[in-house]
Amino acid sequence: MRITCLIYFLLITCAAIAQAGMDTVPPAKKRFVRAGSELVVTELLPWSYNRFARQAEFAKVNFASIGHNLQPNSWEWDDNSFQTNQFAHPYHGNLYYSSFRTNGYSFWQSAPAAFAGSFLWEIAGETHNPAPNDFINTALGGISLGEITYRLSNKIVNNRRSGAQRQFQEIMALLVNPLNGVNRIINGDWGRIYGPVTDSSGEPITGLFTVGIRHFNIHTQQQYINGNNELYVRLRLNYGNKYKVSNIPFQHFSFQLEAGGGDSAYLNTVQVTGALKTWTLQEDSNQVHLYSVTMNYDFIKNNAFEYGGQSFTFKILSDWRKQHRTKLYTEIGSGIVVLGAIPDKYLYYGEGRNYDYGPGIHLTASATAVIENRLTIELNYKGSRFESVNGNNASFILNTLSAEVRATVFKNLLLAAGVGQYTLNGFYRKGLKNVSEIYPFGRFSIGLQL
Ligand SMILES: *[C@@H]1O[C@H](CO)[C@@H](O)[C@H](O)[C@H]1NC(C)=O
Ligand SMILES: *[C@@H]1O[C@H](CO)[C@@H](O)[C@H](O)[C@H]1NC(C)=O
Repeated sequence: MRITCLIYFLLITCAAIAQAGMDTVPPAKKRFVRAGSELVVTELLPWSYNRFARQAEFAKVNFASIGHNLQPNSWEWDDNSFQTNQFAHPYHGNLYYSSFRTNGYSFWQSAPAAFAGSFLWEIAGETHNPAPNDFINTALGGISLGEITYRLSNKIVNNRRSGAQRQFQEIMALLVNPLNGVNRIINGDWGRIYGPVTDSSGEPITGLFTVGIRHFNIHTQQQYINGNNELYVRLRLNYGNKYKVSNIPFQHFSFQLEAGGGDSAYLNTVQVTGALKTWTLQEDSNQVHLYSVTMNYDFIKNNAFEYGGQSFTFKILSDWRKQHRTKLYTEIGSGIVVLGAIPDKYLYYGEGRNYDYGPGIHLTASATAVIENRLTIELNYKGSRFESVNGNNASFILNTLSAEVRATVFKNLLLAAGVGQYTLNGFYRKGLKNVSEIYPFGRFSIGLQL
């Protein structure tokens, strides 16, 4: 699992560095049979591995187990670890989604494939009872991850290049979205040079790659733990223009990936925020204010803290100084968390289930100032409230505050410093003591503007 995460991280990093390509022509033709077959193959591969290589009991699926799993009262929350439920399952869902997305179907047409694939796996992929958490995380997380990997893989391939450079691009794109690569091979698009420049989306992409030192502490009522300094790498990508009106999902998205030398996990952050729809609230020559609905995927796991969730946010985006060299952007919004995984220190069972599941609501606000294109100051706040539906009977308030300053020192090179904290308050019923915990963090890094 750790190795897979690390490899995945490195590949995406390389892919991002290798980007600068044009989009390829989207396959206009919808290929239902191939899409459906690929979806079935993405289910059969892990099942065969479990069944024949691992000889796992839970993979011995038969008519009786399927019949049992089809009954509505068979559904049961599972006991898997945080990484399995909040990252591995969404990653698998990304393949279900991609089986349709890379065969000519749009975002909305491919989304049901993520739900169908997830349902099929829960019912017939294992003998285990189907789990509602898996169904939701696989489907919603799969859509977010599937759409960004599809768009990034298309960005990597420049269809006018040839030779070794093109082969490298094709391989990188295949690693970012395997089904897109497979379909490019089947379609004869692999390495093919198109005549005219046929950039399908033309969406710009910018990024920030940083390497640095970070530090997490833990303050609870009982203890005060001073964490270690850890080396980390982080990649942030911004695809498309956030301030552009659009009805097409994910014409803008931001993506953040962080990995580091913690001792509980190497993959520390995967966050996706994709705009489903953006429309104008008010615009004049110097300001623009837009409404935007975003779909979000969060995976945060480090030595001090973990949080995972699938959510939707309605926000107002403002660009206050369109004409000026010094910019000010703000965002304010609110939304729902369809399902959040919140750390619970009283819980530990199964494969390492140490978190509660529950839906929630959230508020978010952020401000970014860019001074003369050289100095960026970013402030972010997010507050959420959850009501657990599985685990301990509790409700939680999670507040996240962070600030970062980045200064360009030479060409694309920059220095960054940031501080922040997660504050978790848990209110337990059934005699467990309430918790109030603070997880402050700090980081210092050197980065490259991509
Ligand atoms: C949780 O606690 C509330 C309030 O005491 C109660 O109404 C509810 O039934 C409890 N739920 C469970 C699953 O125990
Ligand atoms: C936990 O917090 C709730 C809400 O503030 C309160 O009603 C409850 O009494 C607290 N429980 C304990 C054990 O202090």
